[in-house]
This record gives sequence, structure tokens and C-alpha cells, in this order.
Amino acid sequence: MTKLVDLDWENLGFDYMELPYRYRAHYKDGQWHTAGLTEDATIAINEGSPVFHYGQAAFEGLKAYRCKDGSINLFRPDQNAARMQRSCQRLLMPEIPTDMFIDALKQVVKANEAYVPPYGSGGTLYLRPNIIGVGPNIGVHPASEYIFTVFAMPVGNYFKGGLKPTNFLAANYDRAAHKGTGQSKVGGNYAASLLPGAKAKEQGFADCIYLDPLEHKKIEEVGSANFFGITNNNEFVTPKSPSILPSVTKYSLLYLAKERLGLETKETDIYLDDLDHLVEAGACGTAAVITPIGGFQIGDDLHVFYSQTEVGPVTKKLYDELTGIQFGDKEAPEGWIVKVD
Ligand code: PLP
Ligand code: COI
Repeated sequence: MTKLVDLDWENLGFDYMELPYRYRAHYKDGQWHTAGLTEDATIAINEGSPVFHYGQAAFEGLKAYRCKDGSINLFRPDQNAARMQRSCQRLLMPEIPTDMFIDALKQVVKANEAYVPPYGSGGTLYLRPNIIGVGPNIGVHPASEYIFTVFAMPVGNYFKGGLKPTNFLAANYDRAAHKGTGQSKVGGNYAASLLPGAKAKEQGFADCIYLDPLEHKKIEEVGSANFFGITNNNEFVTPKSPSILPSVTKYSLLYLAKERLGLETKETDIYLDDLDHLVEAGACGTAAVITPIGGFQIGDDLHVFYSQTEVGPVTKKLYDELTGIQFGDKEAPEGWIVKVD
């Protein structure tokens, strides 16, 4: 095993760190030209690049996990490749083939292996694949050239406190429309979430939870994670909506809740005026992992789920099952783990 660099592995936050290597590929004349790994963390592009003006950009987020035996796992990277292909279709960008996507991830992890946090530290190597439309352009039309990049950094908790419940605020803004780009992981959705997210944080909340853009009566998702709840009759429920991001973590939890915990599972409407039937709630995603939601501020009312200080028992079991699989301690369903070797 490569000797690790000297970092405070137990106390990593979720902050940018420039690592030695990243992957680059360039799309031109209808095909991908692979540049491979580079030490250059900057990208110089034409001022007319559509990424600057019209937000022609999509990204992904996934992690590499250090196992007890020192080996490294990727968790369901094919799902991120597929979602990035759907994001590219939505923004008229060229798709990155799954093999090329996974090969890029492996190259970046291997080249930066000294930064993959040790087993048991709670840290992981976060991978950020990213595609942008570049080249001279001024009208509203797609770029003729694209850059695909994958960079990485060691991270800890996204929401402070990890498994300690935290409070969220019901947003007064929408981030995506039903026939818009909410299902795609594209930059514009996150630009739209900056103001509501900042307002929520100013008031002491971890982030905001968006409501359905038609009536603002149902829960949609957190700006960086999906929402789930555990009902008083032991169901795992999560919102069904055309404007939320199909989370790899959420679909993994739907499977684990049913197959490993024996819960009923449902993607369904979750109404603000019917939250009492949820005995636990959480935010789930690659960065968020599972973050228990203690309180949910809706207007003047703070709705408290299981507890504001303690994670609920079902949420804890789901967390243990999910992270046990990711770090190689529990048996993974077929195809979920890809080894970096
Ligand atoms: N929803 C949004 C808006 C996100 O940015 C993310 C993060 O990727 C998620 C949900 C969770 O998705 P995943 O579990 O695939 O990371
Ligand atoms: C992720 O969980 O990977 C995300 O992309 C969330 C966020 C940091 C925007």
C-alpha cells in the first residue's frame, strides 16, 4: 500500500484540496481525445465558452473507500456514468462512455492513492467528474468542443456533525421545475440553490429543503441530497417527483431497506401537512451519506422528527448497512462494488 500523506484524517471537512493529479479529455470534431492525467489544476478556455454564459455544464459526485485490507472500493460508478450520460443528453453535450468514465476514476484514484483516507478514519476520497462546453461562441447554442475532467480530494462530513441530527428549513424558492433540469446534475440547478442555501445557513440551518414547484405542499429534496422518511408503520418513503435528482444513494437505500431490513418501501408524495406519520427522516446522498433530519422549519413551525439530538434506530441501521457495503465490511449486492486495482 502506498504510504499516506500526513493529514488530520479524522477531521476532514468538505473542502477543496489540490491533489497532484487529475484526468482530462477533450471532445473535438465529433470524438473524445483522451489526454489522460495532468498535474495542471487550471483550465484555460475561450471567453465565449458556453459554460461561462449559458451554463452548459454537468458534473457527478462519488467516492473511493479504503477497506480494512488497504484495497480501495468505488461504489456503483456505473450509476454515476449513466446519470452523467442523461445530464449530457439534456444539455446537448457528448456522452462519456461508461468504460471511459470508470477508467478515468480509477486512474485518478490510483495516481492520488496517498490521499485516500485510511480505513476507520471516516474519511473518503471524493471524486468530481465534470464536463463543460468550451470554445468561441456567442449565440445560444451548444458548444462544438467539450472538456471532461475528473479531480479528487479527501473529505469528511458534508453536514457538520455526521450522524447527529440537524435542522433544515423549508425553502421559499424553487431550484428546478417539473419539466426543467431537476433530474439532471447540471450547474444551473446549483447556481439557483446558492441564495436559498445561504439564507438557510444564515439562520442556523444546515440547508434548505425544496418543496414541489407547483404548489409548495410536498417535500422534494435538499439542495445537495434526497429526502427519506420512516413511517409509523415501518415503511421507507421518499418523494417521487420529476424535478428531483435520482440519487444513487437513495435507490441503494430503497433496495437495502427492503432486502436487508425487511421494510416496505415507496416512492410517493410526502405532504407538509402529513409529516406526523414520519417517525424518522434523513437526507441521503454521496456527500451527505445519511444525515438525520432533527427538525424541519416550515414558516413559523419547527417540526421535530425522531429527535434533535439522537439518530433514529432505523436510520442508524440503514447507515450501518450502506457504509458497511461501501467500506467492504458487508456483502455487497451484485455489481455494487468496483475495485480500484
Ligand atoms: N440531490 C441533489 C440535488 C444532489 O446534488 C445530490 C448529490 O449528488 C443528491 C441528491 C444525491 O445523489 P447521490 O446519492 O447520487 O449522490
Ligand atoms: C454529491 O453528493 O456528490 C454532491 O454532488 C452534492 C454536493 C456537494 C453538490
